[in-house]
Amino acid sequence: MSGYDVAVVGATGAVGRKMLQVLEERDFPVKKIKLLASERSRGRELIFNDEIVKVEVLKTTSFKGIDIALFSAGGARSKKFAPIAAKSGTVVIDNSSAWRQDKKVPLVVPEVNAEDIEWHNGIIANPNCSTIQLVVVLKPLYDFSKIKRVVVSTYQSVSGTGRDAMEELYNQTKALLSGEKIETDVYPHQIAFNVLPHIDSFMDNAYTREEMKMVWETRKILHDDEIGVTATCIRVPVFISHSEAVNIETRKEITPNKARAILKKAPGVVIIDDPEESAYPMPIMAAGDDASFVGRIRKDESIKNGLNLWVVSDNLRKGAATNAVQIAELL
Ligand code: A2P
Repeated sequence: MSGYDVAVVGATGAVGRKMLQVLEERDFPVKKIKLLASERSRGRELIFNDEIVKVEVLKTTSFKGIDIALFSAGGARSKKFAPIAAKSGTVVIDNSSAWRQDKKVPLVVPEVNAEDIEWHNGIIANPNCSTIQLVVVLKPLYDFSKIKRVVVSTYQSVSGTGRDAMEELYNQTKALLSGEKIETDVYPHQIAFNVLPHIDSFMDNAYTREEMKMVWETRKILHDDEIGVTATCIRVPVFISHSEAVNIETRKEITPNKARAILKKAPGVVIIDDPEESAYPMPIMAAGDDASFVGRIRKDESIKNGLNLWVVSDNLRKGAATNAVQIAELL
């Protein structure tokens, strides 16, 4: 059978499982699949392409003969194991933030900067979920008029934190509705019926790392260090899909109608923008799809060349698994 030997590192996690699903759905030519996770998943059985596959423990020798490895097991594992895999001839597509700012590692969103894949040295980084859906929408507008500044506020689902966070939201919601005491483990505060202005750790400049990732990664992907980006990242009690309120200031004017015409033709973008009919993108609608949905397109009346947009996308799919599999397809 022709195809590639593929490993999924973190195969039991929220993104890892989605990677398996997307590989199947897109009929990626997999000759052999290797599922890797921690000691606690040793021997666990998962189904891939109708076959039962046993999960193995991630080791330094796991990558022998593997052509492509999709990593989603946290930054520490990526830092340690991605160079080992790359050295043994495996191309690593890494979903963590471990390599994204490394100058020798391309950071790729296929609809935006597919050409950057060419200079990889064995590791290709998958951007942060909130950045992916943002740049898919920014790039076609940027090609029409350079963007001076982006102000973005995110409304991010708990699946971005992983499987344990999804369970925490479920358990807290159930407990609160039953009048029981809740347990808080993954997040510093209750997440059910609440909103947390805190994603990833706080940095010296008072921003969170998640917010700074949006700044650094947008610049790297668009190859523009001058673009001003400022972000506020918020965790909301939604299971799947991140939403973003995006304000952009462009050099040339882009009217809302022009933006619609540009975005209509853009790869990976779907416009849902009929406010009269209450039609706009929402997390429940984006979940399970691969597009970045855009709506609420309107002029920012407070500046000369400003636009406001609302962007929603499935963070597990386009924000992680689908983008990684698209990179593998490019390879
Ligand atoms: P495991 O299920 O064995 O803990 P999520 O982001 O949904 O929390 O998933 C994290 C993924 O990373 C899981 O598949 C998890 O495996 C895996 N993982 C976590 N720690 C390690 C480790 N030390 N070695 C290998 N895989 C790990």
